[in-house]
Amino acid sequence: MCGIVGGIAQRDITPILLEGLKRLEYRGYDSAGMAVVRTGELQRERALGKVAELEAALTRRRLNGRLGIAHTRWATHGKPSLANAHPHLSSASVAVVHNGIIENFEPLKARLEGQGYRFHSDTDTEVIAHLFDSHYREQHEPRHAQEARDTLLAAFRATLGELHGAYALGLIHRDHPEHLLCARMGSPLVIGVGSGEHFIGSDPLALLQVTDRFIYLEEGDHALMTSHDIVIFDGEQVVEEISSDMPQSPDAGTEQLGAGRRALGARPIIRYEHGSQAANKGDYRHFMLKEIHEQPEVLRDTLADKLTPEGTLLTAVLGPEAAELLPQVRQVQLVACGTSYHAGLVARYWLEALAGVPCSVEVASEFRYRHVAVQPGTLFVTLSQSGETADTLAALRFAKSAGYLATLAICNVPGSSLVRESQLRLMTHAGPEIGVASTKAFTTQLAVLAWLALVLGRQQGRLDDADLAEQVAALQALPEQLRQVLELEPAIAELANGFAEKRHTLFLGRGAHYPVAMEGALKLKEISYIHAEAYAAGELKHGPLALVDDAMPVVTVAPSDTLLEKLKSNLQEVRARGGRLINFVCERAGLVDEEGVRNFPLPKVPELTAPILYSVPLQLLSYHVALVKGTDVDKPRNLAKSVTVE
Ligand code: AGP
Repeated sequence: MCGIVGGIAQRDITPILLEGLKRLEYRGYDSAGMAVVRTGELQRERALGKVAELEAALTRRRLNGRLGIAHTRWATHGKPSLANAHPHLSSASVAVVHNGIIENFEPLKARLEGQGYRFHSDTDTEVIAHLFDSHYREQHEPRHAQEARDTLLAAFRATLGELHGAYALGLIHRDHPEHLLCARMGSPLVIGVGSGEHFIGSDPLALLQVTDRFIYLEEGDHALMTSHDIVIFDGEQVVEEISSDMPQSPDAGTEQLGAGRRALGARPIIRYEHGSQAANKGDYRHFMLKEIHEQPEVLRDTLADKLTPEGTLLTAVLGPEAAELLPQVRQVQLVACGTSYHAGLVARYWLEALAGVPCSVEVASEFRYRHVAVQPGTLFVTLSQSGETADTLAALRFAKSAGYLATLAICNVPGSSLVRESQLRLMTHAGPEIGVASTKAFTTQLAVLAWLALVLGRQQGRLDDADLAEQVAALQALPEQLRQVLELEPAIAELANGFAEKRHTLFLGRGAHYPVAMEGALKLKEISYIHAEAYAAGELKHGPLALVDDAMPVVTVAPSDTLLEKLKSNLQEVRARGGRLINFVCERAGLVDEEGVRNFPLPKVPELTAPILYSVPLQLLSYHVALVKGTDVDKPRNLAKSVTVE
């Protein structure tokens, strides 16, 4: 999806903007651009395609300035083209970058055209630039610095007041080389706090090369920034005022302001906890591979604040209201998209089996438009890596007034909208996930959901001390078992050589491994572009068996559980039709390699943790198939990392 980076500094801002755009590339985009202000001139450069194209254009025509904004665009209104790339300008004096959708852009455009403005793009964003310009011209000529600031703010507020829809905005004006304006409504935006320089970004990752201190703007906030000061407004009310010469707090986390500064505390500065190296590939060829290999470590980190080494469940991590709410839970509604939805489907098996709590799972894009019948005592749970997925957020906002007991977000990004807008929260500590194909975010979500099932199981009186100890031991053993599974990589890579030729694949699983198969199919589709379908293995003979022949690889997830014998019968059905089987199978399942059957043995693990473990070889399979096919593994075509528009 679109990405924003901007800044006001006392040095040339263009290298910072360019580096920021490179760091946003993982989100998916089709064009990029930059605008800077320099001595009474607004300069802009744009390019279709990769940020590297923009970089090449900037070597031909160098921009230079201390104030600037930049953008990666993922087309919504108007096709990918140079004319539609951001920043958009008005009267050669205003430049705007925008993420989101302006729903009322058509009437605004008609009015502005009537006023004489000429449009050069098909985007909704260009309306914002002209609208600001028209409001700016209504203001009287500023006579001194304070008036200049007031003029900008008045025009900006008048503009925001007319916009319907979702936006994160950055705006600069040729005649105000000291001021950067920004606003957030329905699309994320952070302010990066520097020393003598300040920045904006749609994602903190864009700014980690210059700062690790961020302010997460709230819905409806707008801000005026200079290189020294940041003033954040909610309407006309100042909610935060910050100067960059404030001292740094010795202990990380929320920082205090220096003496004599306003410290309203409404928008705290948060230190980014993962460090700037977290978003680097290191020695790995792709982020996806790095993220697959990080799983033992991040699973341990994710469980660390939820479980003592002795096995006590630390429920306080859910938030202060948890103690009162948990005993009231009678049902659970899980809502998410994509991979996060698959995590929810796995969790249903755990929540019903371990806690005896009825559980429904639904994709957010459907849930948000349904007339739901809410049972008393239903906990509404959203799952999201990013915490900014538009459909999941909309579902949460709907749920808040639909009579649910409480809302809980399970998320990987602490300052995200989903976390901030939910009553309870559980963080996955997966660290930044850059590869578009979700891997470590999925397995850490599963670990958190398994933990939640234990918490509710205990609460409902369904797990005694011995049961709990057994399940906790299973979770604690996971990091080491994952390391063993990762050792399958060379064998899987070898298999991928023959697999890459295939055009269709079936994935089979039963019980909680049916959604694991769904996740395996999604991974293969999104990065290798091979058509893949997942079925509950028992469904084979109800239709999909017709597809099976010797050209069709069938990938099965076959842990040693109560359904293994049934699954083996399903595999016989495939073999009898000449289908080629690739089995990820418990080492003790007794399946042997033969012509057309390849088995990858995994350690025998308890039923609770098997779905987490068996997901990993499927991730490796899709990665290596994509590698053989030569696709863009980390940035597959047509996809974006965080889907912030509907
Ligand atoms: C996973 O590989 C996908 N890229 C995608 O399905 C993703 O899981 C989905 O868009 C939801 O994202 P979220 O977890 O950030 O809400």
